[in-house]
Amino acid sequence: MRILVIGSGGREHALTWKLGQAAEAVFVAPGNGGTEGGKVRNVALAVDDLDGIVDFCRREHIDLVVPGPELPLTLGITDKLTEAGIPCFGPDAYCAQMEGSKSFAKEVMAAAGVPTAACAVFTDAEAARGHIRDSRKPPVIKADGLAAGKGVVVARTMEEALEAVDSMLKDKAFGAAGARVLLEERLDGEEVSLLCLCDGERAVPLPSAQDHKAAWDNDEGPNTGGMGAYSPAPVLPDEKLEELADIAVRPVLRELARRGHPFRGVLYAGLMMTPDGPKVLEYNVRFGDPECQPLLMRLEGDLAGLMLDCVQGKLDPGALSWSDKTALGVVLAAKGYPGSYEKGMPLEGLSEADALPGVKVFHSGTRTEGGKTVSAGGRVLCVTALGDDLADAQAKAYAALEKITMPESFYRRDIGAKGLRRLAAKN
Ligand code: AMP
Ligand code: GLY
Repeated sequence: MRILVIGSGGREHALTWKLGQAAEAVFVAPGNGGTEGGKVRNVALAVDDLDGIVDFCRREHIDLVVPGPELPLTLGITDKLTEAGIPCFGPDAYCAQMEGSKSFAKEVMAAAGVPTAACAVFTDAEAARGHIRDSRKPPVIKADGLAAGKGVVVARTMEEALEAVDSMLKDKAFGAAGARVLLEERLDGEEVSLLCLCDGERAVPLPSAQDHKAAWDNDEGPNTGGMGAYSPAPVLPDEKLEELADIAVRPVLRELARRGHPFRGVLYAGLMMTPDGPKVLEYNVRFGDPECQPLLMRLEGDLAGLMLDCVQGKLDPGALSWSDKTALGVVLAAKGYPGSYEKGMPLEGLSEADALPGVKVFHSGTRTEGGKTVSAGGRVLCVTALGDDLADAQAKAYAALEKITMPESFYRRDIGAKGLRRLAAKN
């Protein structure tokens, strides 16, 4: 099989690594400093260059396209490739609105009967301010469209809520993505993620994975794209997965199929486990980054085959097989991330780390310069290890990080700590 992966992060490195184990050739557009090598070739195409991607697929006789990030999906890459007769593992532009528009997702959830936070949608700042003043506690303010993970403000005070509304609706802090704003009831509880492979009709849950969104240890500091992840996550035991898929994913598949748009690809539900039961906070229409890295280290068997089965609407729930080991990934980031940071920092020790047993160094934001690897993004690496249990995977990942140096970098020292505490409390 000849496969094209779209994207340039750690998730895409993990996808090319896994797909490269069985494919004849893997291309990645545009890829990064770690993706190229062996069967994998970087292609200088931007993720939003839909026509360029379709042309490339025709020229190179691509059998399967795997978009990593949401942008090409919301722009309609799947629609274009399907028209050209090229299988693409991901939802069409209509279904991709589940991530691309939070008000669309709310509307589908209401139609499908999925539990979620109460919410109201505003385009007018004064009306939104009035709603806040009438509320009993500060709401959560969300830009409707894609805002690179920065469009959500969990306000602690009414003042902060009013400021967030003004910044989105008056000052246009997120441009068109914030021209419509959701004011949502704040939910309390523990967050879990549920990712399902979907073939339009069936949804098969992947094992649990826990992300770490805050930049610094003890969940302090600003929100990021994710600073580390592990799988399985003790907070969501295997026996709960089917029940959550029934609540959060399958009703949505039925509703979208009823509308003539069967969802194919990964549907990722972010849930809050509230005292009143699980409620959905958001959907993503793709693998999470960095959740994808530990998940794919545990996947056994043929990923491309599973993806094609999803595209063709014939996913066999029994076809997924997972190692019972634990995988844990720690993100090495540039100092300053998620704010501003330097690029072009030299990285040393990558091959020594990668050679350790059970360890895989996935590149997130790197490029090759004169034969050397240098940083090219805020999240630079995701050092991932497979271990006998959570403590072992954690020890292996951090031992691998010890081998790596990059000036002006940092990583969280407590990835997995919450899971270990939960396991200790159970015993
Ligand atoms: P979202 O992109 O909608 O998942 O929001 C990003 C983060 O904001 C989530 O991971 C939660 O930590 C938080 N969040 C979003 N919605 C709510 C809510 N209704 N109540 C409390 N926290 C929320
Ligand atoms: N790690 C969360 C995300 O990919 O959205």
